[in-house]
This record gives sequence, C-alpha cells and structure tokens, in this order.
Amino acid sequence: MRILSGIQPSGALHLGNYFGMMRPAIELQDQGEAFYFIADYHSMTSLYDAAQRRKNSLDVALDFLACGLDPQKAVFWKQSDLPEVTELAWILSTLTPMGLLERCHSYKDKTARGISANHGLFAYPVLMAADILLFDSNIVPVGRDQKQHVEVTRDIAIKFNETYGPTFVMPEPQIRESVAAVPGVDGQKMSKSYGNTIEIFGDEKATRKKIMGIVMDSRQPADPKPDADKNLAVQLLKLVSPCDVAADYENRLRAGGLGYGDLKKELFERYWNHFAPARAKRAELAANLDHVRAVLRSGADRARAVASRVLQKARSASGLA
Ligand code: ADP
Ligand code: TRP
Repeated sequence: MRILSGIQPSGALHLGNYFGMMRPAIELQDQGEAFYFIADYHSMTSLYDAAQRRKNSLDVALDFLACGLDPQKAVFWKQSDLPEVTELAWILSTLTPMGLLERCHSYKDKTARGISANHGLFAYPVLMAADILLFDSNIVPVGRDQKQHVEVTRDIAIKFNETYGPTFVMPEPQIRESVAAVPGVDGQKMSKSYGNTIEIFGDEKATRKKIMGIVMDSRQPADPKPDADKNLAVQLLKLVSPCDVAADYENRLRAGGLGYGDLKKELFERYWNHFAPARAKRAELAANLDHVRAVLRSGADRARAVASRVLQKARSASGLA
C-alpha cells in the first residue's frame, strides 16, 4: 500500500496541519510505503518571496522531522527536486475539463477573499493530481479541505485511463473525522490564511498571549454551561491532553465553577508540554541543517525511482514515447 501526502511551505505550520494531516501521515508510515513531500511548486500560487519560500521549505522539513517523520521509513523530499511532476501536470491538464476546476471550493474561496486569480491557482488541482498519480498512490491522508482535490484527481485518472488505456492507480482520500477541521482561535477553521493559528512551534510568550486572548462569552464562572463540549478551548484541550484531563475540564465547565481564564491557562500548559519533546528534537535538527538537506536529497533520489517509471508509462500510453 502506498501512502502519499504533501504540505505547502506557505507559512508556519499549526495545530490544524498537525492533527489533520501530519500526525495521521506519521502514524501511517508504519503501515505501508509512505511518500511525503514539501509542495513548494504549489506555494508559488500564493507566495512571491523567494527567500521566504526557501526558509519556509526548510522550516517545514524541520517541523515534519521533529514531529516524528522517520526518513528511514518514509520517503521525504521537496516537490521541485522532481520537476518530472510538472510534465505529468501538463499531460493531465489536456484531459481536465475547465468545469471540473471551476467547481473547486478552494479556488472559489481564495478568489472570493481577493487573491488574484492567476492560472497557477486555477490549475493547482491538476498539479496536485500529478503529485498523487505520479507515485501510484493508494491512500492520501489530508484534512477535509483537500478532499475535493483528491476527487478531482480520481476524475482525471479515470479520464486518462479511458482515453489512453489503464495507466494510473485510483487514490482514496483518508480523512480523520475527529480532526478534519481543527478550529482556530476565532472559531473558524484554523488556517494560515485566516491569521487564526496556534503554531506547532510558536514562541512561548506570543502563543500564551494568543491562547489567553481567545474570546469567550460573558457568562460568569459560576454559571453552568450545558454547551461545554462546544467551547473552543475545550475542543483544543482535547487535542493536546489525555482524554480524562479534557473530560474533567469539560465536566467542570458544564457544572459551573470553572473560569474561562483557568481553562485557557490549562490549554496553554498542555499545548506547551505536548510539543516539548518535538521542540527539543527540532532544536537538535536546526543545529544540523546539513543532515536535513541530506535527508531531502536522498528522499528525492528514492522518489525519482518511482516517478520516472510511472511517467514513462504515461508518456508511452499517450504516444509521447
Ligand atoms: P492552511 O489552510 O493553513 O494553508 P494547508 O492548506 O497548507 O493549510 O494544509 C496542509 C494540510 O493540513 C492539508 O492536508 C490540510 O487539509 C490540513 N489542514 C489545514 N488546516 C486544517 C485544519 N484546520 N484542520 C484539519 N486539517 C487541516
Ligand atoms: N494542496 C495541499 C494543501 O494545500 C498540498 C498538496 C499538494 C498535496 N500536493 C498534494 C496534498 C498531494 C496531498 C497530495 O494542503
């Protein structure tokens, strides 16, 4: 079974990225052949600062390795180290109906928020389809917002296979419902582009301030809160602490007597401790960037071995070779 996923180096990674995609992906590295990459070509649709892209790409590598991606088990590389993927994206684009891309929520959301609609942003799901199909991927672990892109990938694969003969493996998205859309500090889906994130490796003081600043309602601490399970801090606490601790806080909030300040303090402490081992590992890795770069280089070599075979198959099926 081959598992594949990617993450854009478009800003600091956050709890949504971690619980929605990275942790499930890291757990899957023991269950099949895992292929994970840093989607720097994709980041070009929204980030236009070269130095920033370089820095972010290295940061994503550090974050992912610190969180437990094991390069002995998973193949880990930077997307642009395999430019083969752009050739496949071109081939696939000729079989992609405009309407299929016009229906994509992520494109519609981004343009609705005022991001200028360049061709790359529109064609984004085709490049993503190429990422997935180039590796004969079976399973694609992602958050809920990426589900539609995997469905588009399936549509494109079906079209190619019908047109040129069976070539591509059909991928399945894998979404963990409990963490499919982790909420941000404003209650909307946590996202780099909404400025509502809690970073995995955020600065201590700034993150404490962000968590303590989560806006709650005006009920008094003594008031019982029958909707305690809907409370944002409770929901986040469930992610970063053992179930009995989170359940205890939820019950105390429901019964009345627990103040929001104390709840948020607990959330910060649990968050900080939850990532303490990864934080230490990250500091170690950051002191040895040559090692990190070597991991990505060797990952690119291993990835190329699969990609070149599948690309050759697609070239040959479509009459290019
Ligand atoms: P962002 O929205 O912050 O730009 P990305 O689009 O780079 O995040 O997402 C990278 C991965 O993390 C994707 O698989 C995405 O589905 C997942 N993800 C992002 N935000 C969340 C969230 N709030 N809850 C669950 N998964 C998320
Ligand atoms: N579009 C994904 C995101 O923003 C990143 C990505 C690019 C990806 N190519 C992929 C995810 C292939 C899974 C598979 O999160």
